[in-house]
Amino acid sequence: MADYDLVVAGGTVVTASDMFQADVGVVGGRIAAVGLNLRGERTVDAHGLLVMPGGVDSHCHIEQLRANGGTDEESFVTGSTSALAGGTTSVITFSTQFKGHGILEPLAEYRRRASKAMVDYTFHQIITDATDEVVFNEIPQVVASGVRSLKVFLTYEPMHLDDRQLIRVLAAARRTGALVTIHCENYDAIRWRTAALLADGRTDPKYHPWSRPSVVEREATHRAIALAEMIDQPIQIFHVSCPEVAEEIARAQARGLKVWGETCPQYFVLSAQDMDRPGFEGAKFMCSPAPRDAAASEGLWKMIRAGVLDVTSSDHSGSSYETPTGKRIAGPDASFRDIPNGVPGLASRLPIVFSEGVSKGRIDPSTFVRLTSFNPARLFGLYPRKGTIAPGADADLVLWDAGKVVTINNGLMQHIIDYTPYEGMEVTGWPVCTIRRGEVVMKDGLVQAEPGTGQFLARGPYDMIKPTGNVPFGFDASAFLV
Ligand code: URP
Ligand code: ZN
Ligand code: ZN
Repeated sequence: MADYDLVVAGGTVVTASDMFQADVGVVGGRIAAVGLNLRGERTVDAHGLLVMPGGVDSHCHIEQLRANGGTDEESFVTGSTSALAGGTTSVITFSTQFKGHGILEPLAEYRRRASKAMVDYTFHQIITDATDEVVFNEIPQVVASGVRSLKVFLTYEPMHLDDRQLIRVLAAARRTGALVTIHCENYDAIRWRTAALLADGRTDPKYHPWSRPSVVEREATHRAIALAEMIDQPIQIFHVSCPEVAEEIARAQARGLKVWGETCPQYFVLSAQDMDRPGFEGAKFMCSPAPRDAAASEGLWKMIRAGVLDVTSSDHSGSSYETPTGKRIAGPDASFRDIPNGVPGLASRLPIVFSEGVSKGRIDPSTFVRLTSFNPARLFGLYPRKGTIAPGADADLVLWDAGKVVTINNGLMQHIIDYTPYEGMEVTGWPVCTIRRGEVVMKDGLVQAEPGTGQFLARGPYDMIKPTGNVPFGFDASAFLV
């Protein structure tokens, strides 16, 4: 008689710290054993493949409501399909607040929409209006419901927070035991440079990076870290685009602060040059912070090897290129200021990080696992259920053909967006099978999962994001509702 419902047999298991030959035995959707000669009712043959934890994408925008009344084109169904195609089994997406409104109703609406997902999911709660009601009353309720991370923007009209509002959100997070994730760019500096560029008639997509040079990212990162240090609140800096920003994080980490840094595949393989294409095409590559240059990309890998940057998310934020509600929403001749930011990347995240990282010899397979599943799971309170291959963990696995050479095209991405910024890029290493809680949900690119089979991942308190206890003069100002 078989001991396991499913055995993934004969592969090379890769965890955050090890790589070894083993079978993985699954019972009831969870890993029950990792060992040799396991016998299951069903077997998935993994000979010649790497067996890694299913990807955890801790930053992706799916079916997000927009301030202009629209909604992201990517739905929880199409987004899940794309994620599973790319080997990702869990996502952290967003519940957004609009100025003048609370956060409880939007979260209920996102929970309703996400109930169609086929990947497991949770949310970061975006705060754009740090009113008394939100910071004193609603954030505690949202965190108690299992949404244990907040997101703030230091730029973008109408999302950005000023310093006082940022302080109030950081203090609310400290009181309630949540992590704060931060988009760091200086709002006023970008506005000022943008006005000057437009006044000079420089409106093409290629001027998007000119409006937000790396110094505006570095300044906002420094400020966010300083204010978090004053409050003693753990933070993660989102989408670090270049090493000089990572240096701010490294300095904070050297001082013992709980500051973590995330980067994304677009900062490894895209550059400001990509936005300098004929006509409107540069819009396909516009995201914020802007991709820099090859030297910056290489510098990010150094910061990864040093452990300063420890998560690579997709920041999937798709707007189609041809449709009138996508990149062209403000018209075909819109200036860079009015073109929606963001690039799609749910399915391409793991292949690009593996190809640029492991296949090109910059990192080893265990570092890949740490970047793409283990660290995001730990940082956001999903570990040890997610991010590892060990008894008791969910049987979320991606079977990886490390030698497979694939030329990326938009069809392979299986998202709703009508383009990929990586069209024509050759990668080495590709996911050939995705298993979610013991169920084969993708085989050779064919995704088969019922909408609604994803689970909400409620996150309780966990040690990693506890404050250090060091506050200026020993006075914990965050204890006061001010
Ligand atoms: O350009 C980007 N990154 N768009 C998505 C929203 C954000 O800033 O994360
Ligand atoms: Zn952002
Ligand atoms: Zn984002």
